[in-house]
Amino acid sequence: MTIWHDLSRHHTATANRPMLALFDDPARAGDFSAEAANFLFDYSKTNIDAKARSLLLSLAEAAGLAARREAMFAGELINETEGRAVLHTALRNMQGVLEVGGQDVLPEVRATHARLVAFARDVREGRFCGQGGAITDVVNIGIGGSDLGPAMATLALAPYHTGPRCHFVSNVDGAHVHDVLAPLNPETTLVIIASKTFTTIETMTNAATARAWMAASVADPAAQFAAVSSSAERTAAFGIAPERVFGFADWVGGRYSLWGPIGLPLMLAIGPAHFDAFLAGAAEIDAHFRTAPLARNLPVLLALVGIWHNQVCGHATRAVLPYDQHLSRLPAYLQQLEMESNGKRVAINGSDLPRHSGPVVWGEPGTNGQHAFYQLIHQGTRVVPCEFLLAAEGHEPGLDHQHLLLAANCLAQSEALMRGRGVAEATTLLQAKGLRGTELERQARHRVFPGNRPSTTLLYPRLTPHVLGGILAIYEHRVFCEGVILGLNSFDQWGVELGKELALALAPVLDGSDPGTGKDGSTLALAARLRALREH
Ligand code: F6P
Repeated sequence: MTIWHDLSRHHTATANRPMLALFDDPARAGDFSAEAANFLFDYSKTNIDAKARSLLLSLAEAAGLAARREAMFAGELINETEGRAVLHTALRNMQGVLEVGGQDVLPEVRATHARLVAFARDVREGRFCGQGGAITDVVNIGIGGSDLGPAMATLALAPYHTGPRCHFVSNVDGAHVHDVLAPLNPETTLVIIASKTFTTIETMTNAATARAWMAASVADPAAQFAAVSSSAERTAAFGIAPERVFGFADWVGGRYSLWGPIGLPLMLAIGPAHFDAFLAGAAEIDAHFRTAPLARNLPVLLALVGIWHNQVCGHATRAVLPYDQHLSRLPAYLQQLEMESNGKRVAINGSDLPRHSGPVVWGEPGTNGQHAFYQLIHQGTRVVPCEFLLAAEGHEPGLDHQHLLLAANCLAQSEALMRGRGVAEATTLLQAKGLRGTELERQARHRVFPGNRPSTTLLYPRLTPHVLGGILAIYEHRVFCEGVILGLNSFDQWGVELGKELALALAPVLDGSDPGTGKDGSTLALAARLRALREH
């Protein structure tokens, strides 16, 4: 398509331009940032200029982004490979009527939300008890979207915790379930089994382990279990009473499901009122995404910057760097959201994707990352576009000076990445320390920062439930926009299936009950060594 071609030519023509020179225009910072709800998104420290932005916006228009967005909100079956609507937004905006297949789906959403609120209140206020009295601990057993969202958000909103302690078990590695359960009192613990399908092997295995743990000391263990799932049949077969089963429809994808029953641990931890504020923050961004012009639309702009860096400039990864300790699990959550959604090589129409799929997303909170991998970001041979997130203030009384230092570090990093340090400046600094001659030259080279490295900053007042809801909705819609522009389906995940199938087939090979005929030599040799090691 010619817009892609034009973008590529524009990138080549401007790649060596110092980004700093763009700030000769005093309006640059304001012009290349956008505001909505509680957020300021600054993308001025990138090499995107007015022409690049206009081409990127044309790309979004040519991809039919606005129409696709409307189709999503209207409940059309845009998840075409699974024949499903995509309506996680309905979980946070339950007003009005929303028909899927001729039926209003909102009464059911509202009813489930009301049941969740009632259950959360019962647990938090001691009306729902364990054998040993009021619930002190909640263990959520789930994986992927049934774990990462609630685990990340529960940690993010720690300053709002007023309910039972929440713990998360995801890995099939017995160490995880063992280490979480070991210090807990089964008599005052509630276990939530969170699995959309209620078939995921890791979750069902951990659930069985937790049930056995509970049964060892509790007369009616099933009474201290709740389930979050789309499969009423399977939760019943597991023995969980229907009043403690919270369902959701197939139009909520696992990695988009935090807003409904999968958010139960979060609701238990922060209470229904704060949970509703979390939903309202996301709904506010939904309204913005749906109505704001593309050029001032936060999720659209994040997506366009992403497309510019990944598909146009060829930067394969993106670092997510929250200068907010409470967001320390955000990068892990975004890894699933972005990589499971847009890590695909086939376009929605079945043809090969003509360009790279979504980026590798990774990161850690600042300032910790500064003392670990920022070396590579500043001086490595690859360019890693960075995405900074920063709150104006924290929650911790008396520690404003620490927050100021945190913020100074965040801004300093984006400035350093853009500005860099040339050889002349490095030489002057070393001369001042007394270095001369060839040693000065050699040492100076190591102290050069190439600069011109792009970053964006998402600024918000404070990490409240409302703000967290907004941040996550921005990212969800950003993923959607990138998917539409790339022409892929962001809502299926066929790429996780093969490994699951092979793992099932390998279990009997590992315990020796199946010879593994037809498997490759490496896999068989590793299996044989594992068997031998275990026998010793
Ligand atoms: O294996 C990937 C996946 O299907 C994710 O998409 C999903 O979030 C996760 O597994 C857990 O699935 P479930 O909630 O059905 O247990």
